[in-house]
Amino acid sequence: MGSRHGYRSGDEYYKRAQEEGYKSRAAYKLKQILEDHPIIREGDTVVDLGAAPGGWSQVALEHVGDSGHVISVDMRPIDLEGVTVIRGDITEEDTLRAISEAAGLSVDAIISDMSPNLSGNWSMDHARSVYLVEVALDAADALLEPEGGFVAKVFQGDLFKDLYDAVGERFDFHKATSPAASRDESSETYLIGERYRG
Ligand SMILES: C[S@@+](CC[C@H](N)C(=O)[O-])C[C@H]1O[C@@H](n2cnc3c(N)ncnc32)[C@H](O)[C@@H]1O
Repeated sequence: MGSRHGYRSGDEYYKRAQEEGYKSRAAYKLKQILEDHPIIREGDTVVDLGAAPGGWSQVALEHVGDSGHVISVDMRPIDLEGVTVIRGDITEEDTLRAISEAAGLSVDAIISDMSPNLSGNWSMDHARSVYLVEVALDAADALLEPEGGFVAKVFQGDLFKDLYDAVGERFDFHKATSPAASRDESSETYLIGERYRG
């Protein structure tokens, strides 16, 4: 049921996630993004950064099917069947190496819903969030196949423009989007990159 605002509130998505067996209501954000930007296809290898508790990885699994591979990375534990779990901090080189070993030759999409631990200091939280997207872009440079796709969450603020341009330099198509499931969290937006230039 939509709310009187024409979209579901965070609580409604939370309830729906429980009913439909998703580990987080964030799952609906990725579902909505993929409707407009189909960057995950059957048979793909997908790296999900900041994957715990696993909602995005569940959605990625649905899209890649039995012939695909989802690698779910987080410092926190992830309890999800059908994915390769890598427990680690993506800012550490060992973690990137472990992802590369798990992925083999090709990564078709990198998706990141990573959030920093919030300090309550708006500009610090923004800067930390931008840093996590930069790390996700570094992972893309190291792992992503030409034509690959990218999605990453960022908290809006004054460093946004440069980050947006950094995505644009790497992908033929780029955009910032706020899926309906994200609108209760008005400070966050999702950067999309399609067709990595390699
Ligand atoms: C909003 S949650 C992700 C929710 C997830 N997309 C889902 O649908 O279940 C953000 C996650 O980012 C992770 N994270 C933050 N910084 C990280 C880092 N440097 N390396 C790995 N994971 C990180 C946190 O541990 C947290 O689990």
